[in-house]
Amino acid sequence: DRLSAKRLCPIYCLATFIVTMRLVSGDLSYSFAEEMKRDFVIGNIAKDLGIDRGSFSSRQARVDFEGFRKMYCDINISTGDFTTMDRIDRENLCGKKPSCVLKADLVLENPLELHRVSLHIQDINDNSPQFKDHLIEMEISELAERGSRFPIEQAHDADIGQNAVQRYILQKNKHFILSVDNNNVDLVLENKLDREKQKEINLLITALDGGSPQRSGTVVIHVTVLDANDNAPVFSQAVYEASLPENCPLDTAVIKVSATDADEGVNGDVTYDFGHISDSDDKVFSINPKTGEIKVCGLIDYEEKSSFEMKVQAKDGLGLTSYAKVIIDVIDNNDNSPDIYLKSLSNPIHENVPPGTEVGIINVQDKDSENNGQVRCSIQQGVPFKLVPSIKNYYSLVTTGQLDRELVSDYNITITATDEGSPPLSSSKSVQLSVADINDNPPVFEEQSYSASVSENNKSGSTLCSVSARDPDWRQNGTVVYSLLASEVNGAPVSSYLSVNGDTGVIHSVRSFDYEQFKSFKVHVMARDNGSPPLSSNVTVSVFISDVNDNSPQILYPSPEGNSFMTELVPKAAHGGSLVSKVIAVDADSGQNAWLSYQIVKSTDPGLFTIGVHSGEIRTQRDISESDSMKQNLVVAVKDNGQPSLSATCSMYLLISDNLAEVPELKDLSYNESNSKLTSYLIIALVSVSTFFLTFIIIILGLRFCRRRKPRLLFDGAVAIPSGYLPPNYADVDGTGTLRSTYNYDAYLTTGSRTSDFKFVTSYNDNTLPADQTLKKSPSDFADPFDTLGQSIEVRHSQIFPLVPTLFVVFLFVF
Ligand SMILES: *[C@@H]1O[C@H](CO)[C@@H](O)[C@H](O)[C@H]1NC(C)=O
Ligand SMILES: *[C@@H]1O[C@H](CO)[C@@H](O)[C@H](O)[C@H]1NC(C)=O
Ligand SMILES: *[C@@H]1O[C@H](CO)[C@@H](O)[C@H](O)[C@H]1NC(C)=O
Repeated sequence: DRLSAKRLCPIYCLATFIVTMRLVSGDLSYSFAEEMKRDFVIGNIAKDLGIDRGSFSSRQARVDFEGFRKMYCDINISTGDFTTMDRIDRENLCGKKPSCVLKADLVLENPLELHRVSLHIQDINDNSPQFKDHLIEMEISELAERGSRFPIEQAHDADIGQNAVQRYILQKNKHFILSVDNNNVDLVLENKLDREKQKEINLLITALDGGSPQRSGTVVIHVTVLDANDNAPVFSQAVYEASLPENCPLDTAVIKVSATDADEGVNGDVTYDFGHISDSDDKVFSINPKTGEIKVCGLIDYEEKSSFEMKVQAKDGLGLTSYAKVIIDVIDNNDNSPDIYLKSLSNPIHENVPPGTEVGIINVQDKDSENNGQVRCSIQQGVPFKLVPSIKNYYSLVTTGQLDRELVSDYNITITATDEGSPPLSSSKSVQLSVADINDNPPVFEEQSYSASVSENNKSGSTLCSVSARDPDWRQNGTVVYSLLASEVNGAPVSSYLSVNGDTGVIHSVRSFDYEQFKSFKVHVMARDNGSPPLSSNVTVSVFISDVNDNSPQILYPSPEGNSFMTELVPKAAHGGSLVSKVIAVDADSGQNAWLSYQIVKSTDPGLFTIGVHSGEIRTQRDISESDSMKQNLVVAVKDNGQPSLSATCSMYLLISDNLAEVPELKDLSYNESNSKLTSYLIIALVSVSTFFLTFIIIILGLRFCRRRKPRLLFDGAVAIPSGYLPPNYADVDGTGTLRSTYNYDAYLTTGSRTSDFKFVTSYNDNTLPADQTLKKSPSDFADPFDTLGQSIEVRHSQIFPLVPTLFVVFLFVF
C-alpha cells in the first residue's frame, strides 16, 4: 500500500500512511501525513464500519470535531469517503507534540450511532530550521581567553523528530569552533582574537534538520572584537633631534614628536608630555599634549645651556606610556659682548718707571663660543701704554715710554675688546691711571738773577725784593723753601745784612746800609724743595745801595769856622786874578751829593776876592791897592748838590802884607769880628789849663817830631791837592746812565771829632773790579794808594795826631 500511495502522490512527494482501520467497539483510527490537499481521501468509513453506504445519507451521517470549530475533514455521504476539507498543518495543530491526533465523532442517526474517529497526523519535513535573527551581533573583547564560550541561540525547526534540527555547521574560521550539546550551541574561542589584526569577524552558522529532503537555516554572527588597551603608544623615532638658534622668539616651533597607538578609542588616544624634566627646562619648552609639538616658551640662552635633552612621554587613555628622547642643540648667536676684567692695576705708578713696566693685567672674556667668543683687545692711540697678549685671554698693560707726571699726570686708558662674531660686538673699559711724583725737578728761579736797589739809611727790616722759584713736582717735592747761602759781605756773615723769608722768598734787610761803607754786594739765595733727597738751585741777588745826601761837605782847609785862626798872606803886589788861597772840602757822599760848589757869603771887602765855584780857589779880583784894608776876612760856604743840599762854612783870614812882621796881633785879628766875651773867657780858661800841660806835651812832641818828616800841611800855601780831586770825575758804575752813579774817585781827609781817625776810601775806577773786593779792604790797606797821592801823613799815631792843630794854635796864642 505504501508503495501504491507513493505512486499516487508523486507530486507532493508525500508519504501517505494509511493506518489499518481498527474497529474497536466502533472506533476508527486513521493516520495520514499533514499538508494533504483538500479532498484527500483518508479512508472509506462506510466500508470500514461495514455500514451500507446508502444508509449514510438516510442516517444523516456527519463528523463532529470536538473542541474544534474548524472542520478539517468531512464525510462524503454518497461514497462514505472520509476526506480532508483543508490542508492540515501538523505544526499548527500540535506544535512540538510528538503525536498529533485529531479526534472526531461520526454521528449516525436513526438509530443514533456514534463512532469515534482518531486522525493521526503524521509530520512531514515542511519546516526548515530557523534562527531567530539572520544576524547576531556579538562583541568579544580581544582579551578573551581561549576556550571561552559564547552561547548562540539555537535554531528552531517547527518539525519534530528527525525533521527537527539535527546539527549545526560553523563556517570555517580561525578563531572559533562550535560546540553543540544538550541543545546548547556555543561558540568556543579557539585562537585568541586581536582587534588590531581583525576587528570584525563574520561567522556563518548553518542549522540542519534530519528531514528528507534536508532543510537548513543559517545565521550570520557578526563578532566585533572589542579593544583592550593592550598597546602602548609607539613613537615614530626613538630619538628626536632638533637645533634651535638661541634667543629665538617665544612660540617658535622646535619639533613635533608623534606616537601612534594601535589601540582605538580611549585606548588609542595619545597625549604627550615631558617625562622627567628639570624645572628650568620646563620653563623653556612646552609640549602640546595633543599634537606633540614642542615650542619655545622661555628664553633660550646658549651660554646658559647649549643643549637640552629630555624625555617625552606618550600616554594613551588608560595610562600605557612610552618614551622617546628629544635632543635640542642650541646654536650660538653673537649675543654677548666681551667682558673686560681688570685683574690688577698698579695705581699710581711712579713717573720714573722704565719703559716696559707692567702696570696692570687685563682679562677679557666672551661667553659666546667659537668665533663669537674670539676676542681682540686694544687700547687707544696716543698714550704711552700698550697691551701685550699674555696667556690665553690675558693681557699685560705695559708702559712704552718714559712717563712724566709734570706733563701728564693722569691717563684715561680705554681698553676696547671686540669679538669676531658677525656682526662683531665690542665693549670698552676705562682705566684711570695716575702717575705718582718723583722729585725729579729742582726748583727753578723765574729769573736768571735778581737785583735790588735800596737807598742807604734804610730801615732795618725793609723789603728789598723777592725771589721766586717754581718746582713742578707734587706736594712736598714741589714745595720751595728759600734760604740764604752762607757767605760773607765785608767780613760779616751775610745773614747780618739780609734775611729771606723761607716761604715767600721776600728778602728783607736786617740792618741799615751805608752807601759810604759799600755800594753793592751779592748774595746767593737757594731754593730747595722738600723732597727726599731734596733738589735745589741758587740764584744771585745783587743789592745796590744808592746814595743819600747824608753827609755835609767837610772842609779840610781852612778849618771850619770857629776853630781856625789860620791866616793867609796876600802879597801887596798881587795882581788881579792871583791865586790867594784855596778852600778844600770833601763830601763823603757821591755823585751830585758830593758835587761841591763854593761861594763867598761874607767878605770885608766884597769886590776884592772871588772864589772859583767848583775849584774853591780864592783869587784877587783886582790889583791890591794901598787903600785896601790889611786884614781881610772871608766867610766861604761849601754846598753839595744833593737834594736837599747840605753845606758847611768856614772863615778865611787874609793878611795883605809882604811880611809876617807886619802882621798885627792875632788877637786883634780875631777880635776884629764881634767875638763874644764868653769866647775870650773860654779861651783864657783853656789856655791857662793848657799851659800846665804844655811843657810836658812839647817835650813829647819834640821827641816825636824830631824823628819824622814834618808834614807839609796847613800853613803851606802850596798844599798838594790831588789833581783828580776837583771837579769830580764820575763814571757810571751800573752803566745805566742815571745820576745815581757813584763817583769813581773819592778821597777825603777828616779832622773832625766824629772819628778820631783818618778815613780813607778809595773808590774803584774800574767797572770790572768787584765791589765786594773793594768793600773788604780795611783802611790800612790803603797805605799804598795814599802814598801815590803824594801825601806823607803818618797814620800810625792816630790817637795823638788830632790834638796837634789845637795845641799848635794854643802854642801860637801863648807866644
Ligand atoms: C676719563 O674718562 C672718564 C670717563 O670716561 C671721564 O669722566 C674723565 O673726565 C676722563 N678723564 C680724562 C683725563 O680724560
Ligand atoms: C716725592 O718724591 C719721592 C721720590 O723722589 C717719592 O717717593 C714721594 O712719594 C714723592 N712725594 C709725593 C708727595 O709725591
Ligand atoms: C749754585 O748754582 C751753581 C750753578 O747754578 C752751582 O754750580 C753751585 O754749586 C751752586 N752753589 C751751591 C752752594 O749750591
